[in-house]
This record gives sequence, C-alpha cells and structure tokens, in this order.
Amino acid sequence: MAFAPHFKHEGCMTQTTLTAPNSAEARDIRFHLHGYTNARLHETIGPLVIERGDGVYVIDGEGRRYIEAMAGLWSAGLGFSEQRLVAAATEQMNKLPFYHTFTHKSHNPAIDLAEKLVTMMSPLTPGGMSKAFFCNSGSEANDTAIKLVWYRSNALGKPEKKKLISRQRAYHGITLASASLTGLPNNHRSFDLPMAGVLHVGSPHFWREGLPGETEEQFATRRAEELDALIQAEGPDTIAAFWGEPLMGAGGVIVPPATYWEKIQAVLAKYDILLVADEVICGFGRTGNMFGCETFGIQPDIMVVSKQLSSSYMPIAALVANERVMGPVLDETGRIGTFGHGFTAGGHPVATAVALETLRIIEADDLVANVRVQGARLRAGLAALADHPLVGEVRGVGMIAAVEMVTDKATKRALDTPGALGTLVNKALQDGGIICRAAGDAIAFCPPMIVTGEQIDAILAAFAVALDRVAADLGL
Ligand SMILES: Cc1ncc(COP(=O)(O)O)c(C=O)c1O
Repeated sequence: MAFAPHFKHEGCMTQTTLTAPNSAEARDIRFHLHGYTNARLHETIGPLVIERGDGVYVIDGEGRRYIEAMAGLWSAGLGFSEQRLVAAATEQMNKLPFYHTFTHKSHNPAIDLAEKLVTMMSPLTPGGMSKAFFCNSGSEANDTAIKLVWYRSNALGKPEKKKLISRQRAYHGITLASASLTGLPNNHRSFDLPMAGVLHVGSPHFWREGLPGETEEQFATRRAEELDALIQAEGPDTIAAFWGEPLMGAGGVIVPPATYWEKIQAVLAKYDILLVADEVICGFGRTGNMFGCETFGIQPDIMVVSKQLSSSYMPIAALVANERVMGPVLDETGRIGTFGHGFTAGGHPVATAVALETLRIIEADDLVANVRVQGARLRAGLAALADHPLVGEVRGVGMIAAVEMVTDKATKRALDTPGALGTLVNKALQDGGIICRAAGDAIAFCPPMIVTGEQIDAILAAFAVALDRVAADLGL
C-alpha cells in the first residue's frame, strides 16, 4: 500500500482506546514497564501498539501503516515479514528446538554460524579471526568481551592491565559493565555508573565539538592526542582495551571525521592496547560494506555483532576475536580447567539457524548494493533540506543518517530543554506515518536494507512536511 499520512491524534492513544479500560493500551499502562520510556508520561499518552509487519511497514491496532524508518531498533534489516526467516526458524524448531553448548556439547547451526562469522571477519584483521562466542544481546556480548579482556590480562601475568577506554556518546549496552562503557548520561544517572576502571574520552563529533578554525583532520589529531595523554596519565600498563562503534549509532549517528580511526589505532598500537569494534549497528551491510570496520579502515582484535545478524527475528549476538585474544584465553581455560562463562540460550539453535539464513539472504540478494544505492538517495534527499531553518547538520554513511535539529543555525542551539526539538519533529513524523527516532535533537534514519527508492522518497516527503509543521508551530 502507498504511503498514507495521518494526523489523527496527539498522543499515541486514540479517544476510543483511552476510554476502554481493557484495551491493549490501557493494560500496557497498568502492567508493563518499558525500556527507554518516561513511565509517568506513558500513563498519559500510552503506547503505540504495533500488531503486524509487512516489508518496511508496521501496522498498528487500528490498521494504520507506518514506514519503519529505523528498522525497529536499527535492526530489522530484512524488514518485518521475511518468510525465508520464518521457514528457517520453523524448520529448526521442528528438528531441534533447544540445545546448549556447555561442557563439550554442540549443534550444527552454532558450528556453521561460528565458521561463517570467523570466515567473514578474518580479512579485516592481520592474521585473521580465531573463534566466535554466542550471546543473546549486544550488551551481553560487550560484557563478555570485557571479561575476555580481563581474563586475558590475568593469563598473561598482567593483572594490573584492566582499565577500559570508551568515548562520550558511545552506546555499548545497558548491563552493568556495558552501560559503564556507554557514554550517555541517562544510562549512568541514578544507576551509580560508570563502574571504576572505565574511562571516557571525547566523542568524534566534529560539527559539535570541533574548535573554531579547526579542520576535520586537526580535530582527529586532537582526539588522538587526548587519548595518548590519558593513557600516559593513567599508566600504559594499566590500560587493556579501547572500545568503539565504527560509526556511533544511538549517540546520534556520529560519523568519525577523516583520519580519526587511523590516528586512534596508531596510539593503541604504541601501547599494546586491544581494540574492540562494536559492530552491533554497523555490522552486515549498514554502512555500505559488510562491516563498519571496512568502511572506516579499522583492524579490530574483537568484534561484537547482533541486531542485523538475525534481522532481530531472534535474539542473538556474537563476539569474534583474533588469536592475540583467544590464544591466552584458551590457555587460561586449560590452566583453570574450564571457561567459567556461558549463557543457557547462547548460540540457541533457532537463533543461529535464523542468523545463518539472514546472512545467506543478505549475500544472495546483494542487500549491501541496495544499501549503497538507496542510502545515497536518502542522504542526498536529507542534504537537500540543509537550508531549512530547523536543520543544523545532515550526516550519515551507507544507509544510516541523522539530521541534527536547531532553532538557531549560528549558535547550533535547539530549544531550552535538550531533546525537546527532536521530540517535536519525531512526533510530527509519526503523525505523518513514519517511525524514526530522536537521539537528543538529532532525528535518526536507518530503514530496513530492503527499502525501495519510492519508500525512501516517502520518508523524505514526510520529513519535509514534519519540519514545516514544527517550524510553523514554533513561529520560525
Ligand atoms: C552499538 C551497540 N552496542 C550494543 C548495543 C546493545 O545491544 P542490546 O540492546 O542487544 O543489548 C546496542 C543497542 O542498540 C548498540 O547500538
């Protein structure tokens, strides 16, 4: 069905659902605590209840269709109704619905997926990748990576080499340790985080954090020098690893400036510090190559993947590491007598089977090529809106982009409350039939990788309408 704007209601709930105490919306308010939601505000505006998926569209309880321009949570790369994934899950459910991988047990989907991931990622790093370990979420995979890094330092007889360096605006998850790596205030505030031993350097956001007169490359040099200075101050022998998303996602789609990764990696190499690339959003095509590490010239020791790995149809994540990491870790398990780590559902047969089919489809249908073509169309369309009074910066790569909203282009200021302008534009977009996401005052776009040119144009048209509507409301 074609794109159909609808400007029917202010909050998520309609009058009908508000007055029906047993509606899904009313019961959601009564019984359900949501992640990333203001629970008190939720009592007033309620949820948008999505009932079905159809390609890049999701459909709510009243039959309204929305283009899911965020692929859910940067994740449903194959859209919301891929029958080949349903078939792969059904077949595996019938054959072996559960088995585990503890105590020398295994099953074919986990073996095949481990081999596939190691093979796909090996060209990225000299000497190749060694082994994959399976988890259920990106947060768990980052936590596991931290534990491996620490385990390795102990195995090497360097118990003091444990500190981790991450970046402001980074997103690595929400478990105690991965939330500590995350560099966003709302993931720390009132949770008593970050934990000790996790340090944050400045974000690579040139437009916001570059100094007057500074070029992109000078900014990248400054960020690398800051990293070097921090390592020197802390003591190079105390720093175990540096964490980074090749391109920051949840922090607002921050594309690193030219030469940034090259300079950061030179510093890490100088002090024998491991590099962990968190590819949870970038992985499997999103940046126009199979991995963000390819797009930005990163040679990682550990890669963390999830989301598009199964198109989010099943919960699964993986950590893949090279021999520099795995060699000492495997030796340590030999010394201790076991690897005291593992999740009941890690490498679940249905999840691994769905992931294998997802990767097969991404390759067979050449979705990376579609990302390049439709991503360029999306970014060109957004760039064409640069002169709009509310548009500060348009940024992106491949098929992931963001537009930073401002009310004053000269000072780059938005409204008095940070994030309020982003929320207004995001709400206007949703009223227009497009689901995006506000990361502060930046509106993020990350449609399923199967999106067509016509659907990209519908997203762009709705965004232009939303911008005009909010500008008119603000008197701009
Ligand atoms: C880069 C990155 N790492 C880790 C995570 C955490 O993944 P999960 O929500 O599956 O725990 C996310 C989630 O958005 C992410 O974007």
